[in-house]
Amino acid sequence: MKFLVLISALAVFLAPAARAQGHGCEANIEDSLKQDCYPGEGASEESCRARDCVWCPVAEPNPDNIPWCFVYEADGSTPGPLPGFGCEENYLPGEDRVDCAPGEPTNEILCRNKNCTWCPYEEDGVTPWCYIPGTPSVGGYYMVGEPITITNGLRVNLIKAVANESFTFALENRPNPKAWEGEAETLTLDAEFQSNYRLRVKIYNTTSRFEVPLNVQAPTGGNQNPLYEIQFENDPLFSFKVVRKSTGTVLFDSSAGQFIFAEQYLTMSWAPASENVYGIGENEQKSFKHDFSQNITWALWGRDQPPSFTANMYGVQPYYTVLENDGNAHSVAVVNANAQQFSMNSGPVIKYITTGGVLDFYFFLGPTPENTVQQYTEAVGRPQLPPYWALGFQLCRYGYNNIENMKAAVDRTAQYGIPHDVQYGDIDIMHKALDFTYSRENFPGLPDYVKELKTKGIKFMTILDPCISIGEDPEEYRPLKLGNEMDVWVKKVDGSPVVGRVWPQDPVYFPDYSKNATKEWWKILIREFHDLLEYDGLWIDMNEPANFVDGDIDGGCTQNSLNNPPFVPRIQGNYLPSKTICGDHVQEAGNHYDVHSLYGWFQSEPTLTGTREGSGKRALVLSRSTFLGSGHWVAHWLGDNWSKWDNLHFSIIGILQYNQFGVPFAGSDICGFIGSSNAELCQRWMELGAFYPFSRNHNGIDYVDQDPGAWGAAIAESSKNALLVRYTLLPYLYTLFFRSVTEGNTVARALWHEFPQDPATRNIDRQFMWGSGLLISAVLDEGSTSVDAYLPNARLYNYFDGAEEATKADSITIPTPLDKINLHVRGGNVLPTQEPAINTEISRNNPFGLIVALDEEGAASGSLYFDDGDSIGTIENEEYFLADFAVASNTLTSTVVKNGYAEMSQKKLTTVRLLGAGTVGAVTVNGAAITSFTTLPSGEVLITSLDLNPTTPITITWA
Ligand code: NOJ
Repeated sequence: MKFLVLISALAVFLAPAARAQGHGCEANIEDSLKQDCYPGEGASEESCRARDCVWCPVAEPNPDNIPWCFVYEADGSTPGPLPGFGCEENYLPGEDRVDCAPGEPTNEILCRNKNCTWCPYEEDGVTPWCYIPGTPSVGGYYMVGEPITITNGLRVNLIKAVANESFTFALENRPNPKAWEGEAETLTLDAEFQSNYRLRVKIYNTTSRFEVPLNVQAPTGGNQNPLYEIQFENDPLFSFKVVRKSTGTVLFDSSAGQFIFAEQYLTMSWAPASENVYGIGENEQKSFKHDFSQNITWALWGRDQPPSFTANMYGVQPYYTVLENDGNAHSVAVVNANAQQFSMNSGPVIKYITTGGVLDFYFFLGPTPENTVQQYTEAVGRPQLPPYWALGFQLCRYGYNNIENMKAAVDRTAQYGIPHDVQYGDIDIMHKALDFTYSRENFPGLPDYVKELKTKGIKFMTILDPCISIGEDPEEYRPLKLGNEMDVWVKKVDGSPVVGRVWPQDPVYFPDYSKNATKEWWKILIREFHDLLEYDGLWIDMNEPANFVDGDIDGGCTQNSLNNPPFVPRIQGNYLPSKTICGDHVQEAGNHYDVHSLYGWFQSEPTLTGTREGSGKRALVLSRSTFLGSGHWVAHWLGDNWSKWDNLHFSIIGILQYNQFGVPFAGSDICGFIGSSNAELCQRWMELGAFYPFSRNHNGIDYVDQDPGAWGAAIAESSKNALLVRYTLLPYLYTLFFRSVTEGNTVARALWHEFPQDPATRNIDRQFMWGSGLLISAVLDEGSTSVDAYLPNARLYNYFDGAEEATKADSITIPTPLDKINLHVRGGNVLPTQEPAINTEISRNNPFGLIVALDEEGAASGSLYFDDGDSIGTIENEEYFLADFAVASNTLTSTVVKNGYAEMSQKKLTTVRLLGAGTVGAVTVNGAAITSFTTLPSGEVLITSLDLNPTTPITITWA
């Protein structure tokens, strides 16, 4: 435990003397008394005077460094000592510093004038140099007695450590005395051994505090042989460690810094098991693996915020995975929804601060990376199976502005034969940006057009924003009338509805989706909406909730501790109500202060239910804001990304994160949302995006058209080809989604998920995999026509020609002309395929095939899941087909695991691509020799003209 080394001699707190508005040399004073007004920086006369200082240049040379810009004392007195502290009096290590000037320019004078500590931190510019002085106590607790055995766990009672005088600052002297106000005198820690692989550690006090209403599911299996143990320390203060029993690796050690549990400031610092830490969102992370040398703070607080490095974005995902140095993995969920931040500091140390709730940690012990996601999603809820069509290519833009433009984009796509399964409408299809309407003026005949699209096999998704305009006559605008009747709105403290502004021309109310009446209201409207526009899925946007004004439109937010808490994490705007509503606004589930980041999460389930009720089908809901467990209901796109090259790379990181967060159906706007895309960028992006689990090209308003048909024949062709590969592999992709539903597997995964023992994979985030069988290595850089790809230690086959790569566990440079993306099939896998088509309605009925890629032992395995693609509950109702494939000793066999989808008996399996078998002279199928096979120059053995039915067990042998 690092004690806070605070020297007891308190500095004298002087209120700064009144200063006039900037001065020149007429206010000169004796050189030795000049106190630099811009220490460490150069000042100009303008900047000097702007700071009310004296600007009086000193003749050069100036060996004593007499400041040209110094502090002016109006009464002519010499400047007294600065208030606040310097390093000498109040040094704190980086991880214990709380920024005193978040987002503001600062220097020693400005900082100390806030009674804060100014202490430049070694070489680093991220850790605050100006911080709130040391705490009124050292923080921390002592354990009272021994841990007590409770059902399935241990309980520890904690009592606040009495402040040691030498560590104490007078509370009233602190600039921000409230931050630590209300420190809990006693706490309870419950360590629940929920299963052998799941440990919960919850620290709470007796006062009722907000707790996230997350419905954590019971784990399977017992807890007789836990993979972990928890150890408690009481010297010098209380801390705990979670240890992996099999290796002794310490996974979490809370002795790494302060532990404070105050009313609105809870902090704990812990050492993770290694620096291989992945996760925490939603922010724009520039590498998937955190870089602890950068001391970066990631603040989480749902916000309508385009990606901008550490800026807090739409979702709140306090969840991370650690790959231990020996290749074991565990993950940690911090079940807390308040404004919070994670600082990844050198050590490595994770310093966590939250502004409310309780400290509630769930540890998932793996030990494989996939196990951690399986275990996590078992707790928070596993994904829904997407409709089959949703795996097809999706096309969208904000600002078609009229139906002709929408039709033109659809037609261009068709004209070039580019697969296209889903067309979207954005808010410009609405009448006056009003939910549940369409513009008869700009989109005349839209409902018929949607029907027409369906006859062509194209589905329709449309957008809903959470807020409801109050400018309409309630008698004519049912969402408002019914909302008033059902009393669904978020309220101000005085009980009146909160009023904000979003897209509609008039102000809006904010529905309180945490309330049952609101959920019902929303479902009614969604059901009725289907009568107007036959959507197949819904897209819920702006649900952070976004607001174009801060707080209520009339009065902003009242000054109080819920709107202006004593500590604000490093969020954009440095203000909780920034671009949203006030912390003291009232929702059923709690003050908005506590439930803000759950807004989209509360909206998700009723939207999915309503959409299913309205369409009568499985449907898809795409949500911008997410929280722990959102993946149970919704897919996610990564928001308003930029039409810039680096966003290709960042998109892979975001998708890998969301797969880790249990939201495997994730993608980013292909070709970029903000800014005009360009031909090369969009061409590469279409190639990469063809392998996003969620593959949608979406564009912002007023930028150049960027649908794949908009750029001419060459780009249309390469987009089509990439998508045709996607469509060929859709049975494989669908089967991966089936595994995500039933086992919690990721769909897109990082190389380290599959090769956790290989240290070379740990930093790789420019390549990714689909399941364990397909490696995707795209060009991500402007002007580049090659990819430096890492080929892991496995037999890998070029997807396109089946040739085996000679390189293993090493990087190679692969020439990649503009129209190509690199794909490798990993030996050991059987990938089910289907002949592609321009949409899944057609491709679903095409013949199946198999790619059989052999590993070093000549073995491979895989599965095919298939169902009608659109019904609700096919898995639960066992209305599906599932076959397993296994290869050993030159023999492929299939086993039908479930034959619950009647139409499967009509389908054919006609082709097998056999990779890695060497030269083959004879093939038998179900015992009969066939001749329709050939060994290609690449070494691939192509078996064609099969007439097999997947529902009958298949045996294929070769020699
Ligand atoms: C913001 C969303 O992120 C974007 O995708 C959408 O196009 C606009 N809102 C307009 O609805």
